[in-house]
Amino acid sequence: MRYVGRLTLEGSVCGKPQAASSLHTYHVFVRVATSLASKPLSYNLQANCLQYKQGLSEIREECQELVLSDGQVLEIMKRLLTELNRGLSKATHDTADVKCFTTFVQDLPNGTEKGKFLALDLGGTNFRVLIIELGGEHHFDMKSKIYAIPQKIMLGSGKQLFDHIAECLANFMIEHDLSSERLPLGFTFSFPLSQRGLTKGYLVQWTKGFDCSDCINEDVVQMLKDAIARRNDIQLDVVALLNDAVGTLVACAVRSYNCRVGLIVGTGSNACYVEKVENVELFEGDKPKPYMVINTEWGAFGDNGALEIVRTQYDREIDSHSINAGKQLHEKMISGMYMGELVRLVLVKFTKSNLLFGGKGSDMLFERGTFFTKFVSEIESDKRGTFTGCRQVLDELGLSHATDQDCVNVRYVCECVSRRAAHLVSAGVATLINKMGQLSVTVGVDGSVYRFHPYFHDLMVEKISELVTPGIKFDLMLSEDGSGRGAALVAAVACRDR
Ligand code: GLC
Repeated sequence: MRYVGRLTLEGSVCGKPQAASSLHTYHVFVRVATSLASKPLSYNLQANCLQYKQGLSEIREECQELVLSDGQVLEIMKRLLTELNRGLSKATHDTADVKCFTTFVQDLPNGTEKGKFLALDLGGTNFRVLIIELGGEHHFDMKSKIYAIPQKIMLGSGKQLFDHIAECLANFMIEHDLSSERLPLGFTFSFPLSQRGLTKGYLVQWTKGFDCSDCINEDVVQMLKDAIARRNDIQLDVVALLNDAVGTLVACAVRSYNCRVGLIVGTGSNACYVEKVENVELFEGDKPKPYMVINTEWGAFGDNGALEIVRTQYDREIDSHSINAGKQLHEKMISGMYMGELVRLVLVKFTKSNLLFGGKGSDMLFERGTFFTKFVSEIESDKRGTFTGCRQVLDELGLSHATDQDCVNVRYVCECVSRRAAHLVSAGVATLINKMGQLSVTVGVDGSVYRFHPYFHDLMVEKISELVTPGIKFDLMLSEDGSGRGAALVAAVACRDR
């Protein structure tokens, strides 16, 4: 009975009209012909439909491991809270996997900030240089340029990386006629940093495919200054060093005074939030200001085993082929760097077990990294029951022999993977909201997965509503260029306070 219900909903060819997909019908007959050639046709069709229905149900059953139960979500929240507290506490910080780094950001902007700032944004495959003029009254003017970071540099030496950054910065300043000025600069550096001040941060580990040598435990601001000094053609003052999640929170705080969480669901995943300074044990010295933004670096959640209750064979495979095996396990279940590949691994498994594409894959499907995360958004953007985006993707992957039912199933796999990501992120956000205990919280969000996936926002709103303490209100606000404008705003606040 379960099978019939599902088949009807999904418009399968095994229901009334086989005509729903002539290609599929062809496969039905091929399979029937090869396996049951000697039996009468009516028997063959019936047998095949049964086999087909079982295939469908198997796909859904196999995907079950990608579906988080309510109980698992609650358990994850409990474990994350434990890890957040371990990160904050001096006694356990060193062994905690969610580090909860101090950011030294204690004042949020109010929109009246003014001035001209440079910003650097390093955190993914691209690197940006920006010049931003804040005009007060929420007004700003911004020009920026994107520079690629070749793989060779991502995996080269720290000196090469920072020389490349300094070169792009110098070219940008010349192009924009800024080379004779000495401007304040905000540096958005989106990797785990142990910060010792607003302009001092030591790299703890690389994430997101970077692995430059000679950088761990080094102050990245100093590395930037050294690279600029080696060139000797530009001048600037680094006044702020920040993470992209922090930039996102700050950029949204200008529009919403109760913005207290910054979230990134892009190439990587991370969140920051506003914590009472009395809970920030790592922050030594005078504590005249009551709050500090904490960079959780929650991408590393699970690195001590806390996520084993939900990790699957696909997550283990992704991890074992990554350049940082055993690290960033939470991020690897969520972010854009891994989501497409997760889907591909599931599709490969189902193809090999004859549940998809008539058991016939393609060279592209079997090759690592070919299923881009944007494909997930494209496939899920199809109006239900239509397959335009899905077919385009499958054609690109050499899978034009896919039936309509294959398209339904491929979409189902994408939905399982993206829903799981949205639910993990929601569990994290709800944990932070509940921990802060404020009655109304805006969450500033940025990142390609959140921006471009058609349902990510809605899935999050639905799930977080279920998980926050009753009485707490929240909203999710798309950030306007957190890593760029956020850097200028943090820089502006820093200059104001000097
Ligand atoms: C990775 C980085 C983190 C960053 C996130 C989003 O998790 O470690 O610092 O915020 O990606 O870019």
